[in-house]
Amino acid sequence: MNQRKKIITIVGARPQIIKSSAISRAVQTVFSEQLEEIIVHTGQHYDENMSKVFFEEMNIPTPNYNLQVGSGSHGQQTARMLEGLEKIFVDEKPDGVVVYGDTNSTIAGALAAAKIYIPVIHIEAGLRSFNKAMPEELNRISCDHMSTLLFTPTETGLTNLSNEGFKMDHSPKATIDSPNVYHCGDIMYDNSLHFSKVADQFSSVMKSENLTPNEFVLMTVHRDTNTDIAENLEAIFSAVDQLSKEHNMTFVLPLHPRTKSKLETQLSSELYKQVIDSELIKVIPPVGFMDIIVLEKNARMVVTDSGGLQKESFFFEKPCVILREQTEWTEIVDNGNAILTGANHDKIIAAFNTLIGTKDFTYPTFYGDGKAAEFICGKIVDEIQ
Ligand code: UD1
Ligand code: UDP
Repeated sequence: MNQRKKIITIVGARPQIIKSSAISRAVQTVFSEQLEEIIVHTGQHYDENMSKVFFEEMNIPTPNYNLQVGSGSHGQQTARMLEGLEKIFVDEKPDGVVVYGDTNSTIAGALAAAKIYIPVIHIEAGLRSFNKAMPEELNRISCDHMSTLLFTPTETGLTNLSNEGFKMDHSPKATIDSPNVYHCGDIMYDNSLHFSKVADQFSSVMKSENLTPNEFVLMTVHRDTNTDIAENLEAIFSAVDQLSKEHNMTFVLPLHPRTKSKLETQLSSELYKQVIDSELIKVIPPVGFMDIIVLEKNARMVVTDSGGLQKESFFFEKPCVILREQTEWTEIVDNGNAILTGANHDKIIAAFNTLIGTKDFTYPTFYGDGKAAEFICGKIVDEIQ
């Protein structure tokens, strides 16, 4: 008789695919006799360099299902996912559904499962920006409140959940009405430690982009408020143009397809031409995880609105300009490693100049011991009924 518990992992957007590798690795190497993992890709991200590349280079098992929902408005995209996921859950009858983070794939997975009484396991629970105009904030709050096991990466996440009424003691068996909350560290710290050991071996990005260690800035932009409001995109790119010239510093931008498609339409024609013609601004397609790690390790600084990249800048001990008004990773700002600027030209320039002139950064262990995935799998085995 098969005694293993069956979990279904939902991935869809790039960061979830990357995160999921930590749990798949723990299932394969430590928990193969206790857990069976079925992977469902919603198809939210579908370009090869936003999806397939990660399965290949991070040894993530090929998804058992791909719903191929693609892009769409929030309602349309989430609705397509809900319909497809419910059918898979009914057929597969899993013991639990694992969701990551705060995207439309996260909320669809959680809602489809909870409504048919399947326990939801939320990894990266408790993070808050306290800005409900962000679609991600709505997704993460709703997801937390329909979960049975909540795994939060940080002390701040634990405090947020406590403030929202989650109890901090643990029942032997968690339920949706009596969920268990654990502070377990960040699975992305697990992944960064694991893959940084081999990244140099598999990446040639420094050579192909002709980069010198410590003499370039790694930058990404994809938040809707930065890409879809022309004034904001203009402020960000005019600051980059200015900084690259003032510091004679290369900016490397592996650009999310969302932003790539907006550069020409949102920027003034004058700035667009300067950016495209600049020898110091290198706009390149999104890169794989080995390449991004190598870029993070070798960059002088990181400029980003990405949740993942902010934190990885801390893992690799690089200062970070955060192109957002708030962050869920407050500890790196409170500790002085990163500065929030929003899409404000002057604040971006000031933050960059402050950080580039600072030498005495500290890097406390905010994100655990690199074994979060094993801790999570152990709790799933013990506490999902
Ligand atoms: C989504 C998440 C965001 C996360 C980000 C990670 C939601 C609401 N947002 O934002 O939290 O930080 O993923 O990258 O879930 N596109 C392509 N090819 C792709 C994927 C997207 O061209 O493979 C383009 C399409 O024009 C699409 C746009 O990017 O309309 C936005 O994609 P979408 O998945 O809706 O949102 P993201 O901005 O990627
Ligand atoms: N990333 C990557 N290649 C890139 C840009 C980002 O592999 O060209 C990785 C990055 O290292 C991090 C994750 O993608 O692990 C972050 O995803 P993204 O910025 O799309 O989403 P967010 O974290 O903001 O939700």
